[in-house]
Amino acid sequence: MAKVTIVGSGNVGATAAFYAAERNLADVAMVDIAPGMPQAKSLDAQHCAPLRQYHVNIVGSNDYAAMKDSDVVIVTAGLPRKPGMSREDLVNINAKIVASVSKAIAEYAPNAKVIIVSNPLDIMTYVAWKATGFGVRRVMGMAGVLDSARLRYFIAEELNVSPSEVQALVLGGHGDEMVPLPEYSTVDGIPVTELIAPERLEQIFDRTRKGGGEIVNYLKTGSAFYAPAASSVEMAECILRDNRRILPVAAYLQGEYGIKGYFIGVPALLGKNGVEKVIEIPISDEGKAQLKKSARLIEETIAKLEIPL
Ligand code: NAI
Ligand code: 2OP
Repeated sequence: MAKVTIVGSGNVGATAAFYAAERNLADVAMVDIAPGMPQAKSLDAQHCAPLRQYHVNIVGSNDYAAMKDSDVVIVTAGLPRKPGMSREDLVNINAKIVASVSKAIAEYAPNAKVIIVSNPLDIMTYVAWKATGFGVRRVMGMAGVLDSARLRYFIAEELNVSPSEVQALVLGGHGDEMVPLPEYSTVDGIPVTELIAPERLEQIFDRTRKGGGEIVNYLKTGSAFYAPAASSVEMAECILRDNRRILPVAAYLQGEYGIKGYFIGVPALLGKNGVEKVIEIPISDEGKAQLKKSARLIEETIAKLEIPL
């Protein structure tokens, strides 16, 4: 049986552990620094096995050694946003956490593929890549799957159609400057631009950009977790089962889309080796300009990082 470790057993991490178990994806290790928390949640999840019909092993630990020989590590450790906070406000606090977790990954799971969830996402993925010392194709960030799922849902809601029939693509950084692409958004193959008027579509894009913030404003003490957890497990499944799907992933760019040296959301082929390939697709001039703007913001935030990399 393959093994997935989920670091951080808070809202996103614990939900991701549960979803991974429900799919019988792999044995699950839950790791968190909070005493007793991963132990409690893993035991609770095990008690669900006869009810939810899974047969994977689930363990919880405060020791990073529990991630030993994992095939995939999902990192959700860190603080979530509070109302009024941008994802960037979290940067230096979470960078320290993600760097220390990443060093432990390099020590205990040197062959793992790493999926970063902690915010600000594109920056934390860069920090993890530097701190693990892993090849660029083994480290990636989860955001595009979530942002695209939100857009898919909003389109489905608008048209009163099944969400699973809607495809949509959101690229760029995981922030308010993310880039929804109408030209790659379809309902059963029909371009969404044929079904929804441009002004309404723009409102839907805007709600997608602010989708995380809408939930933070309701919750007040934390951020979204069901859809973020489901999105992370979707990526982990692609890697663990070598599904070779093209998903929007924060991947390291080496000149693709005119961007070099950063992680940003682009379509990527995911398989057993991690990011098997970054897929370069033609996008509108407006989309390109937005992507560049998003990349500039990532570059500026990385330059302001207060931890040595
Ligand atoms: P949470 O507060 O519920 O859980 C975070 C957990 O990390 C806590 O249990 C905490 O004890 C643990 N932790 C802190 N430092 C640690 C360390 N050094 N090692 C191991 N565990 C450690 O937060 P939640 O809601 O689960 O969010 C986690 C992160 O994911 C946040 O940074 C949040 O902004 C981000 N996020 C990113 C999304 C995305 O689309 N990329 C979507 C949703 C959340
Ligand atoms: C979200 O988009 C907070 O990044 C998190 O829900």
